[in-house]
Amino acid sequence: DMGGHDTYMHKEISEQADAVDRVLRGRIDDRFSTVHLGGLNLDAREARGIRRVKILGCGTSYHAGMIGAGLIESLARIPADAEPASEFRYRNPVVDPDTLYIAVSQSGETYDVLAAVQELKRKGARVLGVVNVVGSAIAREADGGTYVHAGPEVCVVSTKCFTNTVVAFALLALHLGRIRDLSVSEGKRIIEGLRKLPAQITEILENEAEIKKLAEEYAGAKSMMFIGRVRGYPVALEASLKLKEISYIHAEAYPASELKHGPLALIEPALPTVAIVPDDELLEKNRAALEEIKARSGRILAVAHREQEKADHTIIVPKNENELDPILMGIPLQLFAYHTALAMGRDIDKPRNLAKSVTVE
Ligand code: M6R
Repeated sequence: DMGGHDTYMHKEISEQADAVDRVLRGRIDDRFSTVHLGGLNLDAREARGIRRVKILGCGTSYHAGMIGAGLIESLARIPADAEPASEFRYRNPVVDPDTLYIAVSQSGETYDVLAAVQELKRKGARVLGVVNVVGSAIAREADGGTYVHAGPEVCVVSTKCFTNTVVAFALLALHLGRIRDLSVSEGKRIIEGLRKLPAQITEILENEAEIKKLAEEYAGAKSMMFIGRVRGYPVALEASLKLKEISYIHAEAYPASELKHGPLALIEPALPTVAIVPDDELLEKNRAALEEIKARSGRILAVAHREQEKADHTIIVPKNENELDPILMGIPLQLFAYHTALAMGRDIDKPRNLAKSVTVE
C-alpha cells in the first residue's frame, strides 16, 4: 500500500519525520542528559574500556556508518571509522579485543555484512548490530545492538532507513559519550538538537516543489559531482549513490578538499556540482571550493543553511547542532534524486540491476 504516493520511494521519503520520532521515542533520559538503548548488552565499565570503534556495512548503510563514526569520535572521543564490510573481510584484518565492531544493515540479511560478523565472532570480537529488520540474521548473530525503527522499507533504494540509522548512531554516540567524557551540558545540547529533528525534516519536505524544479533543470546532465567536507563528505557520497541508482546519471563524490588534487580537471559548464555547505567551522573552506568551481564556469547547486553567493542555486535547510546537521542535509538530495529520475522517466522503485537485499556474495 502506497498510501496515496506514486512510488514507495516517495512514500518512504515522506515518512521520515515520523520515523525519526520513533527512533527517539522512550529513549531520552533528561535527568542524566543521556539516552537508554535497551539491547546493547554493553555495561558502563565495558563502554569505558573501548579503545576503538570499527563500523561495517555496505552501500547506503556504509555511508550511514561513516557519519556514525564521526558522531562517535566527536561525542564519545573514541577513534572510529567505517569500512565496507566486504573489503574488511578480505584483507585479513587485525581483530582487536578492545575494539567495538558495529555491523550496520537495513535488511539484516546482507551476505557480506553477515559474513564479516561471523568472522569477527569466530575470532572472539564483540559485535553490535545497528539493524532495521527485527529478528534478521545480523540482529540474531550480533552480541547486542539497537534497532533503527525506520519501519518497513520496500523501495530498493534506501532513504528513511539511512536517516534513522544515522539518528540511531547519534543516540549510541551520546550514550557512549555520557558514560565517558561528554559533559551534562553538551549532552543536553545534543538532546535538544535531536528533539528538533522531526519538525525540521517536515520543513525540508515542504520544500519539495522547489527541489523538483531544480531537479528538472539538472536532469539533462551526463554526469554530476558531489562534494562535502568531513561531516558533509558522507552526505555527498550518499547523495551521489541515490542519483546513480535511480536516474542512472553518472555521479562522483569527493571531499571538497580533494578537488584540486585531480577532479577539478573535470569541471566545466556541462558537469554540475552539488555542494554540501553547512554553517559550521568549515564554512569558509567550503566556500573556497565553490570559488574554485565557479572560476572554471562550473554550475553549482548548494545545500546550505543560508544562500550561497557563488552557487547558481541554494537549497536552504534548517540549522541544527553541527554534529547533527548531516542528518538533515541529505534529505533534500533524496528528493533531488527522486525528481531527477522521475523527469527522466525511470522506474524508481525498481532500478535496473539492483535488488533490495543482497544475500549472495
Ligand atoms: O540491507 P542493507 O542495509 O545491508 O543493504 C546494504 C546495501 O545493499 C544497500 O544500502 C544498497 O546500497 C541500497 N540499494 C542503497 O540505496
